Amino acid sequence: MRSKLYFCKGEIAMQKFIVEGEKRLSGELKIQGAKNSALPLLAACLLTKNECTLKNCPALSDVYTSCRILGSLGCECRAEGSTVTVRASDPCGCCVPDDLMREMRSSIVFLGPALSRTGECILSFPGGCELGPRPIDMHLAALRRMGAEITEKHGMLCCRTNGRLKGTEISLPFPSVGATENVILAAVLADGTTVLKNAAREPEIIDLAAFLNKCGARIKGAGSDIVVIEGTAEIGGCEYDVMPDRIVVATMLAAVAAAGGEISLIGADRKTVDAVIPVFEQMGCGVYSCSDRLFAACNRPLRAVGTVRTMPYPGFPTDAQAPVMAALAKAEGTSVIVENIFENRYSHAGELLRMGADIRTEGKVAVIRGVKKLYGAKVRAADLRGGAALTVAALAAEGTTEISGVKFIDRGYETLEKQLASLGASIKRETIK
Ligand code: EPZ
Repeated sequence: MRSKLYFCKGEIAMQKFIVEGEKRLSGELKIQGAKNSALPLLAACLLTKNECTLKNCPALSDVYTSCRILGSLGCECRAEGSTVTVRASDPCGCCVPDDLMREMRSSIVFLGPALSRTGECILSFPGGCELGPRPIDMHLAALRRMGAEITEKHGMLCCRTNGRLKGTEISLPFPSVGATENVILAAVLADGTTVLKNAAREPEIIDLAAFLNKCGARIKGAGSDIVVIEGTAEIGGCEYDVMPDRIVVATMLAAVAAAGGEISLIGADRKTVDAVIPVFEQMGCGVYSCSDRLFAACNRPLRAVGTVRTMPYPGFPTDAQAPVMAALAKAEGTSVIVENIFENRYSHAGELLRMGADIRTEGKVAVIRGVKKLYGAKVRAADLRGGAALTVAALAAEGTTEISGVKFIDRGYETLEKQLASLGASIKRETIK
C-alpha cells in the first residue's frame, strides 16, 4: 500500500530565541498535548488495520518524525492542526530509515508493534537527546523473551518472529518507560498473556493503555508496577485525546517562579505534577488547582530548596530537573539536585554559568547557590529540556539573551516562544542568517 504523507519537514534553518528578561508573567495558557504520550500512541496505531484519530496531538518535530516512521512502514498519516489520523491497513515496510531512527529516542518503541504486525523489523539504534548512553538492552531482552529473534550487526537490529509473539512473564531490572511501552505494544497481539513486573508507572503509560483498551485490547494494571496484557488476535481503531503534557506544566511553573507573576494553566492535571508542586511551594510560589486548571503565583524573592532527587514516577521527574535548576539559580540560599535517571543531564548548567549562575556539578549532583542577578548572554541549547531551562533563566535575567539550538526545544514544546509571549514574556524567534 502506498504511504501518503500530507506534510513534510523541510530543512529547518538554524533558529534562535531573543529574550528580554525581567518581565512578569500573567494570563492563562492551554497546556499542549503530551509529547511523551503522543509518540507511543502513534506507534500503537500500527497495531490495527482500522483508522485511529489522535486529538490534542502536539505540533512537534518528534510527532512529525513518528509520522514519517509510520509512513516508512507503509502507513497513511494525516496531520490537520492538533489532529493526527493514522491508517495502517496493510503495513508493507519493515525497515525504519536510519535517519529517522536517529532523530529521537522513542523511535525504538516502533519495534514492538512492527514485530507484532508484520513479523519483521530492521532498524538502527535510536538517537535522541544526548543524556548519556541511551541503551535499549531492556527492550531487546524483553522482546527476545516473547520470542523475537534479534541480531545486532553493524549498528543495525534485524528482528523477526515466527508467527505471533508469545505472552510471558517479564521483570524489568529498572522501571524503564520506553521498555514498558515496548512490552505493552508487543503483548497486545501476542499469543497468550504477558505479566510485566517492575513496570514504569508514568501517566503516559496509563494514557497508552487507555488508548489500546479503547481499541479493544485487554490491559490491566497500567500505572502500577505490574501490568497484565491478555493478548488478542486483533484490535480495532478509535478516536482518542492525548493527555496534557505534565512536563510543559512543570516548565511553566518554573517560568513564573523565575519571572514572577500569576498564571493559570488550562488542562493541567495536578496529580501528574504532585511531586513537582512542593518544590515550587518551598521556593515561595503559591500553587492552587480547581477542576482542570492550575493557578501559580510568585510575587516574592525565591528561596532555595533542600535536595531535589529525580526518580521514576511518582517521584520527581527527571524531565523537570533542568527548568527547576534554572528557577533555582536566583533562589536565595543553596539548593542541591541529584539526577538519578540519566548519566549526563547537566549540559544546561555550563550555559547557565554564562548568565551569571553559580552552579557546580559533580557526577549526579548539582549544587546551585542562588545569585542576586542573572544577566542576558548568548547561550546554546544542547538538548530539549536544557533548552527550556535556558529560556526560563532568560526570563529572569537582566538584559537580552540569545538562545541558539531552538530545534531541540521544538522537539517537545509547541512554539515555546508563542506560549511564553502569550503570558507577557518578551521573546521572539529569529532565523540565524
Ligand atoms: C522516556 O525516555 C522519556 N522519553 C524521557 O523524556 C524521560 O526522561 C524518561 O522516559 C524517564 O522518565 C519519551 O517518553 C519519548 P527510560 P526513555 O527507558 O524511555 C536506562 C524528554 O525530555 N535504560 O525510562 O528513554 C536509560 O539509559 C525525554 O521528554 C537502560 O539502561 O527512558 C536511563 O538511564 C528525555 N536500558 C533509564 O534507564 C534500557 O533498555 C531511564 O530510561 C532502557 C533504559
